[in-house]
Amino acid sequence: MEKLSAEDRLFVLTGAGVSAESGLPTFRGINGLWRGYPVEDVATPEAFAADPAMVWQFYSERRQRHESVRPNPAHVALGDIERALEDRFFLCTQNVDSLHEQAGSQRVVHMHGRLMQSRCSRTLCRTLPFDDRNLYRTRGEIPNCPKCGALVRPHICWFGEVPFQMELILQQLDGATVLLTVGTSGVVEPAASFVRMARLNRARTIYVGPEEPSNSEYFDEVLLGKAGELLPSFVNVPLG
Ligand code: OAD
Ligand code: ZN
Repeated sequence: MEKLSAEDRLFVLTGAGVSAESGLPTFRGINGLWRGYPVEDVATPEAFAADPAMVWQFYSERRQRHESVRPNPAHVALGDIERALEDRFFLCTQNVDSLHEQAGSQRVVHMHGRLMQSRCSRTLCRTLPFDDRNLYRTRGEIPNCPKCGALVRPHICWFGEVPFQMELILQQLDGATVLLTVGTSGVVEPAASFVRMARLNRARTIYVGPEEPSNSEYFDEVLLGKAGELLPSFVNVPLG
């Protein structure tokens, strides 16, 4: 891995793999969360309309599990890199967990939303997402929006929905000279295409994870290994 210079701007994209060593299952591959689980039955607006209690049970279980997990050395390393680079660093995560923040990351955007936030389920209702660690298991427990009365839903980007903060993300990607992608299988768009966009700008592109992602041909360097083992040595790379 070559050194970063004082002119470099680092864009980091993380996926479920960065949280795997914290004990949160990835979506695909061995021990994938969705193996044997019909995810199309829970992660869609249609599923929520048909059975909101079932969808909330799924996310409530994930909220409960999140209470007992901690950041791993990969999250910590990314926090350290940010402290060195300051505003030459940007972190875009596909993860809905809060482990990057718990490890000290500040310039982090959650393109797929946040497990610990909820919002009104009515698309045109202008109320903002709010912090929410509550668990809802029955229809009666699900609160209603104080403004319009619709049911409250998880603040998560479901299948068929548009990811959050794309304008800021694409602007940051456009200004990056180095793209570091960590622990994502490279199949879910639009994140899977970030590496091609970065390449068009002649940015250096690096992948870190135990297996090749499906878009591996677009990376200049593919570093095979666990994020928690490889990223801490990344920090030791002198940062100009
Ligand atoms: P995936 O589950 O598709 O891929 C996880 C990747 O992490 C795999 O390529 C693994 O090889 C890798 N991995 C496993 N252990 C690792 C470790 N210790 N260190 C580094 N990498 C490791 O997860 P994503 O690509 O993040 O969307 O999935 C993208 C989106 O698909 C998710 O954000 C989710 C889902 O639809 C929503 O929830 C909206
Ligand atoms: Zn509302």
